[in-house]
Parts: sequence; structure tokens; C-alpha cells
Amino acid sequence: MTSIHEIFFQPSQKMDSIIDESIDLIVTSPPYPMIEMWDGIFSKQNPEIQEFIDKDDGFNAFQLMNKELDKIWDECYRVLKPGGFACINIGDATRTIGKNFRMYTNHSRITEYCEGIGFQSLPVILWRKQTNAPNKFMGSGMLPSGAYVTHEHEYILIFRKGAKKDFLTVEKEQRRKSAYFWEERNVWFSDLWELKGIKQNILDSRSRKRSGAYPFELAFRLINMFSLIGDKVLDPFLGTGTTMLAAMASGRNSAGFEIDENLFDTIYESMINSRENLNARQRSRLTEHQEFIARYRIDKKKEPKYFNENLNVPVMTRQEVALDLMIIDEFVKIDHRKFEVQHSSCPPLSGISF
Ligand SMILES: C[S@@+](CC[C@H](N)C(=O)[O-])C[C@H]1O[C@@H](n2cnc3c(N)ncnc32)[C@H](O)[C@@H]1O
Repeated sequence: MTSIHEIFFQPSQKMDSIIDESIDLIVTSPPYPMIEMWDGIFSKQNPEIQEFIDKDDGFNAFQLMNKELDKIWDECYRVLKPGGFACINIGDATRTIGKNFRMYTNHSRITEYCEGIGFQSLPVILWRKQTNAPNKFMGSGMLPSGAYVTHEHEYILIFRKGAKKDFLTVEKEQRRKSAYFWEERNVWFSDLWELKGIKQNILDSRSRKRSGAYPFELAFRLINMFSLIGDKVLDPFLGTGTTMLAAMASGRNSAGFEIDENLFDTIYESMINSRENLNARQRSRLTEHQEFIARYRIDKKKEPKYFNENLNVPVMTRQEVALDLMIIDEFVKIDHRKFEVQHSSCPPLSGISF
């Protein structure tokens, strides 16, 4: 099979190149309102934002930054298919403006807006990024009452456009191919993810110093949890292209919008150099599954009930018997902004007898 991946270096407030109801899943992380590194990007989009910051008016700056994001959530709603999911990674911001330290609650502001335009909220994931940094305890130390709780988590907000999707008969086979393993479900569908953050350096000096990128694993899980092989995934804040890489690894199509054209080299370099790593992540799903089955046999002293012929492995449930893992055979650049990826099914690992 072939998948197509397109980058648009345009602001995502208007995603005119994406037609209504053509996207199956959105996985994204916007610039976080009131986190200082994004002040410049927001103020370019609305100069009043900087004026409020200069006047020590954090609340109104926060509101205007979120109003810029609101335009993009409207566009996300327009382009998503009914029943499609939008997964938004967002952190709240702690900040001192003037002499006032407070929290700016982006996750609740975005949730309220998205519900207002018709999205339905689903249970969220807390992404916990525990740190050992000595300065994580903020405020007055051991003296009450001016100390603050540590801030070591972000949110992955999960919305659905309208009611649950009914799958057509022709889609059912693809849905079964796109299944995940039982033991993956148990980890991925838990409300607490403890994933390490990643190195944030951008090498291109024309761009900003830190990328704000999320880990590959975060996008990879969400894509496999909420879309089917062959579906189209959109990231309206593409950054270094993590969502696009995860879509490629998973046999999905993708489109990404990014305002900073200087990120092209970073995105392109990682695309052409990542094939082996992306395939390794898919293959690791199979080896980890084999290890899981080996432990199951020892612990339970019995065989799993079902068997997956594609991968030549036992599986826990009937839903996993047609599960297929896509790997990348070839990566072709069609033009400066468009890429084609050839995929095939991951062969079963040889040399291990079941
Ligand atoms: C938090 S970063 C996304 C990082 C990305 N998830 C990754 O893994 O690299 C947000 C990105 O959105 C871009 N951005 C900000 N405002 C934008 C807009 N209106 N339209 C498109 N991109 C925008 C920024 O340049 C930045 O690269």
C-alpha cells in the first residue's frame, strides 16, 4: 500500500487546502499560551498580546492567545469527519507577571471552547513528566502559606466530533487489521502516561532554539488508538514533524501545517533518516508481544485461546487475529512538500517457535 504525506507552510487559522470532513484524526500540540517561549509567535499573530504582557495584564494576554487558537479549533472541527477524534496535547502555564505568580489553565480554556463548537469530551490522558530538578518545588519552601504544588504533568485532551462512528461493512476488515494487542490496550488506554520528554534543540539557527516537540511514542500511540490503516491524520501545528513520522510508521496518510518554514530541513532530515527507526518501533511491538506471550505461558500455565496467522503468534482475543503491522519499504519525495511512502506487512519473526 501507499500513503501520502503533505506539508503546508501556512498558518492553520485557514486550512483551505483541506476539504470539509476529510480528516479521520487530529493529533497535535499548539504553542502553549503564557509559556514565555511562545509569546513572540502569538504576538506576531495579534500584536495586542505583547501590549497586555507589557502592561502586566496576564489574564487578557492569556485570553487573546487562546482566541488565536480558537480559530484553529474551528478549522479542526470543519475538516474532521463526523465521529473523528481530535487529540490535543496541552500544558497549563505557571508564570509570574508583574509580581503575581499564578497558573493559566489552558487545558480547561481549550476544553470549554471545543465543547462550545460541538466537540464531545472523552476521558483525558495525564502525561506525567516527573523531574528530579531541585527547583521543582516553587514558592516559600517550608514556610506556609506561599508554596506551590509541583507542576509535572501535561494533558492529552481527547474530543470526538459528534456521536460514535458506525463502521461500514467494507471498513470492518481494515479495522480488524488495525487492531492493537491486548497488552498494548492495557497500557495505552490508561489515563496516566509516564513518557520521558525529548531533547528539544533545533539545529537551524534561523528558527527558534527549542522545538516544543513531543515524544514519537505519544503520537504513535494516539494514531494507533484512534485511526485505521489508510486513514488521514492532520497536525495543524506540525513543528518538527513528529505526528507525520508516526503516521508514516503506522501506515496512515497525513497532512501538517506549520508557520515556520525554517523547520523544513529538520522535518525532511528526520523523514529520510528515520526509516529504520520507524520500522524498528513496529517490529518491537511484535517482539514485545512474543515476550508477553512467553510470560503468560509461564504464569498461567496455559495457551492463549486465539492465533494470528499474519504474524504467526498466539493472541489473547478474537479481535487481534487479523492484526497486521505495517512497515516502510520506500520513501519517495514527490515534490518539495509532498512525500509518498510504500508500505508492506511486517513479516513474522523467524526462528521462534510457537
Ligand atoms: C508545540 S510546537 C509543536 C511541536 C510538534 N508536536 C513536534 O513534535 O515537533 C507548536 C508549533 O506550532 C507552530 N505554529 C504556531 N502557530 C501556528 C499557526 N497559527 N499555524 C501553524 N503553525 C503554527 C509553531 O511554529 C510550532 O512549531
